[in-house]
Amino acid sequence: MDKKVTVVGAGNVGATAAQRLAEKGLCDVVLVDILEGVPQGKALDLMEAAPVEKHDAHITGSNSYDETNGSDIIIITAGIPRKPGMSRDDLISTNAGIVKKVVTDVVKQSPESILIIVSNPLDAMCHVALETSGFPKNRVIGMAGVLDSARFRSFIAMELNVSVENTHAFVLGGHGDTMVPLPRYSTVAGIPITELISKERIDAIVDRTANGGAEIVSLLKTGSAYYAPASAAVEMAESILKDKKKILPCAAYLEGEYGINNLFIGVPVKLGTNGIEDIVEIKLTDDEKTRLNQSADAVKELVELLKTLDY
Ligand code: APR
Repeated sequence: MDKKVTVVGAGNVGATAAQRLAEKGLCDVVLVDILEGVPQGKALDLMEAAPVEKHDAHITGSNSYDETNGSDIIIITAGIPRKPGMSRDDLISTNAGIVKKVVTDVVKQSPESILIIVSNPLDAMCHVALETSGFPKNRVIGMAGVLDSARFRSFIAMELNVSVENTHAFVLGGHGDTMVPLPRYSTVAGIPITELISKERIDAIVDRTANGGAEIVSLLKTGSAYYAPASAAVEMAESILKDKKKILPCAAYLEGEYGINNLFIGVPVKLGTNGIEDIVEIKLTDDEKTRLNQSADAVKELVELLKTLDY
């Protein structure tokens, strides 16, 4: 294939992302992990599924970065996931060290690549990646909003018993409890959900969306969500690889947009060959602005905490 994507971390999210990339026939995939044999074994297993799944993507697994040379996109899922009772923020010091090391290694091999960060706490890990890579801000993107809005969409579809394909949802802010789902921009067949669902039910759905990750962690007990996170990262990669210019909610480095400066936070962006090609600014109500600022403050706190850590 003429496109190449490296997925770092061959665990639940990484291996599922590799599977989706290959089965959609988007690109060749290199899976990298520190665990000996795991990326190689999963890559071989995926290659052996290819004749049945009918794709010609080449998937390789490795413990080194040589094979990642010249990748168009690097999806970083390396790190530890949450356990019940942990917040995403509890992962910060371990995952900051891992993300720093991984980014240092991948950019040597693929200096023109676009980084999609998945490791949590997401917005803080994007800061680590931007700083470590020295890449321009359009080439460091965080996966959060696509997942959060997919959760929101699936709950809307369940509530109204309609196709998920009819749903659109809008989520701003950090990937955490302070995320800001926007019901008035969330629609079913173009109709705002505020016309279709009672305020009480919308509040419950919004609450479930904000806690969507924790709900899965409490059920799985030994790890966090991975099917939907992998799907979300792959939708972003597809828009970049095919230059689709989809507008998707992603964590982007803001320099004045939405009145926020020098901070990664979830906003609608246009994704194409150059990564983030535009940041879409929409008008917010005073209440929405306040909530977005609260979410930004929570991210800022984590970024400040990062500065005090030795990772
Ligand atoms: N380099 C490469 N791979 C690493 C490194 C490293 N320095 N450190 C850890 N890994 C690998 C682990 O060996 C493991 O295979 O990252 C993988 C993580 O996989 P899982 O433990 O299955 O975790 P997963 O559910 O995939 O989540 C990964 O994504 O959604 C976020 O919060 C989640 O931060 C977590 C990340």
